[in-house]
Amino acid sequence: MKEIYVGLIGFGTVGTGVVKLLQSSGQLLEKQLGAKLILKKIADLDITTHRDVSVKKSMLTKDAREILDDPEISIVIELMGGYEPARSFILEAMRKKKHIVTANKALLATHGNEIFEAAAEEGVDIGFEASVGGTIPIIKTLKESLVANRIKSIFGILNGTSNYILTKMTDEGKDFGAVLKEAQELGYAEADPTFDIEGIDTAHKLALTLSLSYGKRVKFDDIHIEGISTISQIDIEFARELGYRIKLLAIAIQREDSIEARIHPTMIPFDHLLANVNSNFNAFHIVGDAADSVFLYGQGAGMMPTASAVVGDLIDISRDILKGISRRVPLRSRREDIIEDIRLMPMDDIITNYYFRFSAVDRPGVLSRISGILGENDISIASVIQKGRTQDAYGAVPIVMTTHESKEKNVQKALKEMGEVDIVKGETILIRIEDDKLK
Ligand code: HSE
Repeated sequence: MKEIYVGLIGFGTVGTGVVKLLQSSGQLLEKQLGAKLILKKIADLDITTHRDVSVKKSMLTKDAREILDDPEISIVIELMGGYEPARSFILEAMRKKKHIVTANKALLATHGNEIFEAAAEEGVDIGFEASVGGTIPIIKTLKESLVANRIKSIFGILNGTSNYILTKMTDEGKDFGAVLKEAQELGYAEADPTFDIEGIDTAHKLALTLSLSYGKRVKFDDIHIEGISTISQIDIEFARELGYRIKLLAIAIQREDSIEARIHPTMIPFDHLLANVNSNFNAFHIVGDAADSVFLYGQGAGMMPTASAVVGDLIDISRDILKGISRRVPLRSRREDIIEDIRLMPMDDIITNYYFRFSAVDRPGVLSRISGILGENDISIASVIQKGRTQDAYGAVPIVMTTHESKEKNVQKALKEMGEVDIVKGETILIRIEDDKLK
């Protein structure tokens, strides 16, 4: 039976899951594949800490070179994360004609052009299903199953940690910091949890999703990113009263000559499927011109769900190796020579519905002044809530307003003007509402 040798760089949570899965399902996979998949070496700087799986000591090394320089190894799994040395290791492995499997969304989102182009030059493949949506087969879905479609929109929950936090805050009234700690203990969070909380991890995943959906190069910095650290219980409660739940959404919408790409906390109708994606689960609501709505759901983080995606890629590449082929499916859905730059719509130009919460002094004429500012900026009010006459720290009352569809540029200008009048105290909280576009 043919043997395919594999090296693993990075023996953390997902790396441990991959080893476990290869051990528990190795025989079955061998039968399905018709070849032996042999994990030859595991490299990690820490080879002493106990992992939840047992491996022969001789397999472990602190030196990734032992994998990169081994001519017998034909597939390298990179699970160390971060930009360097992961980038250099991947480039070097590809130069040595090794195929790559990686979950490194941060690296692919920011250095993907260089890495994908190098892979094309070397004629090697890169499996990166685990980099977006954990266990969910979104990469394969976009590159293969939905390739006949023009993708009209994608609304996604792409970060398990922030979804876990928002779920616990919403359903159990828990405090932000305490829930973040739980998510870290469960192994969902990034090494730097600000990536999770501030929407950066979601943006990495959206950048990759965009390049596959539209077969184009994405400039990561052009994506509008806001995280969930400004969300408090009071907004969760008002959202509930208005019939919404707050989720950190990744949004991509095809416009005439550009694409809207934004990440921010969003109020969505409580009965929409996405509003019911809870805990660390991720989901994608994709609308294709031919397929119409497609909904994908699964665990977006965690040891075994992510390992499932990594080993899936390993098998895919091994199947090609056995057939003597490579790169059956282009890495970004299109032939490399027709990939072009994507034009993302400036945030100022987007049009959506808004929720504002601010504190205003409680006296006659205040609301008319505020609605005057909104009216002058072409913003039409859909609803207003003022709860009782309880005064807050500013000696003011909290007021919530929602708007009909308005232009972001006008909304930002109105908020600035509201901040300048003495009847509005403190900062105005803005949360965008997506309702009609989700239907
Ligand atoms: N930190 C990521 C998350 C892990 O919370 O979703 C999976 O990419």
